Amino acid sequence: MGLQEEISRHRTFAIISHPDAGKTTLTEKLLLFGGAIHVAGAVKSNKIKKTATSDWMEIEKQRGISVATSVMGFNYGDYKINILDTPGHQDFAEDTYRTLTAVDSVIIVVDVAKGVEQQTRKLMEVCRMRNTPVIIFVNKLDREGRDPFDILDELENELKIAVRPLSWPINIGAKFKGVYNIYEQGLDLFKPDKQKVTERVEIDDVNDPAIDEAVGAADAAKFREDLELIEGVYPDFDVEAYLRGEVAPVFFGSALNTFGVKELLDCFVKIAPAPRPTQAEERVIEPQEEAFSGFVFKIHANMDPNHRSCIAFVKVCSGKFERNANYKHVRSGKMMRFAAPTAFMAQKKSVVDEAYPGDIVGIPDTGNFKIGDTLTSGENLHFKGLPSFSPEMFKYIENTDPMKSKQLEKGIQQLMDEGVAQLFVNQFNGRKIIGTVGQLQFEVIQYRLLHEYGAQCRWEPISLYKACWVESDDKAALDAFKKRKHQFMALDREGRDVFLADSNYVLQMAQADFPAIRFHFSSEF
Ligand code: G4P
Repeated sequence: MGLQEEISRHRTFAIISHPDAGKTTLTEKLLLFGGAIHVAGAVKSNKIKKTATSDWMEIEKQRGISVATSVMGFNYGDYKINILDTPGHQDFAEDTYRTLTAVDSVIIVVDVAKGVEQQTRKLMEVCRMRNTPVIIFVNKLDREGRDPFDILDELENELKIAVRPLSWPINIGAKFKGVYNIYEQGLDLFKPDKQKVTERVEIDDVNDPAIDEAVGAADAAKFREDLELIEGVYPDFDVEAYLRGEVAPVFFGSALNTFGVKELLDCFVKIAPAPRPTQAEERVIEPQEEAFSGFVFKIHANMDPNHRSCIAFVKVCSGKFERNANYKHVRSGKMMRFAAPTAFMAQKKSVVDEAYPGDIVGIPDTGNFKIGDTLTSGENLHFKGLPSFSPEMFKYIENTDPMKSKQLEKGIQQLMDEGVAQLFVNQFNGRKIIGTVGQLQFEVIQYRLLHEYGAQCRWEPISLYKACWVESDDKAALDAFKKRKHQFMALDREGRDVFLADSNYVLQMAQADFPAIRFHFSSEF
């Protein structure tokens, strides 16, 4: 198969949702259809338990399992599908944002009873920033939930994207009877089954009496009314608008009962984009270019504390990746060869000889890689689009074992390279501040520093509201700002100026007092 053919059959995407909406269940059902697993329940153990307090052994166990399930590749018909897993726990949201830089599209799972929840809103913002095409799956139709029309309105208002239903439920909850596939005009009758696919009623059009027979006259009448309303209110589905990220097709179903999932998958492979061009600082890279290029979007540390090996996850952006070929690690300028790159098929990882755009390659690493690093056939390319967002929580990190300060330093550097959290150095007192999305990350860092680097640290409180990257075209204004706020100025790891605002009020005052300064809440501007 030629490069172009390989590219057009690849679909690389992530499933995102607020915890508990059904991401894991849906992932598993997709794998079931792809023949990648044979029984439901196989993926489940991947989940970091959503308990309020952290359970250490559990997380360590999960980390081991999740290397295998970080990427799940399988063939479905002529298509090669790569699902990139995102952590369920919201304290690892930053990981999810980065994974979104490596996908070409996204499926969002929403719980029909709960509607759009906070984390979904945030993740959608990231998709919008990158014009990532999204498909929405409204899940748990077998449970009592909201009116589907209300859900559509909510999706549109809360996620700020036009929606277009491509399937429609006949009743929900206890009275749930089935889903009509608008995209392909067929009716699926609901038969709860966790392992098997439901049966389908073939119909000619919406007036087919087979519908009345299948669901009863009253429900059939209501369904026809609904459908008329949909056709009146929503414009025809426009694939191009979906690919531009302007409209999200919506499917209804129940992942747990394997219902509505095949419709979603069949439509997904047809409409979802093949690997898209990647924007580098230098130029746009087209996937069909002969020369290989790719970037590291995730680094996964090994559980074994005795040898600190990691796996760097590289997304192939262009050309063909080949085992044992010489590639340039652009940041260091060094040429490297990879003797044992791994591919991820059906939850297993195995050494791979070649990989194509859209594929993810796992490269064993001993600390050479950093999130965002580029590998190429020789060209100096730097990929854009691995933004850091302002952390939500901040703490000073202090060394508690003066004999181990080197180890601590190294540990902090490497964990930050992995993207575990963000480091800022206060310019006024030189103290190191770690910024995270949630409390659990502080615990992860402390634990890993001790177990992998033999370094001990302690956290000290610092009351901060937000970190914002500041810049200005007016150097004098920037200098004046930095002078006035010198106690609250820090440098990020790239040496950029960051203002640490201790309250929303202070931030607003600063914005009002220094109109020449631009305040950014993500590192990509
Ligand atoms: P997540 O990855 O998004 O966090 O969600 P996950 O798939 O783990 O699903 C969360 C809970 O919702 C699970 O129940 C799961 O069984 C249930 N669920 C998923 N899809 C459906 C559906 O279509 N209908 C119904 N009724 N429930 C669904 P749990 O009790 O947390 O886990 P378990 O003990 O059942 O495994």
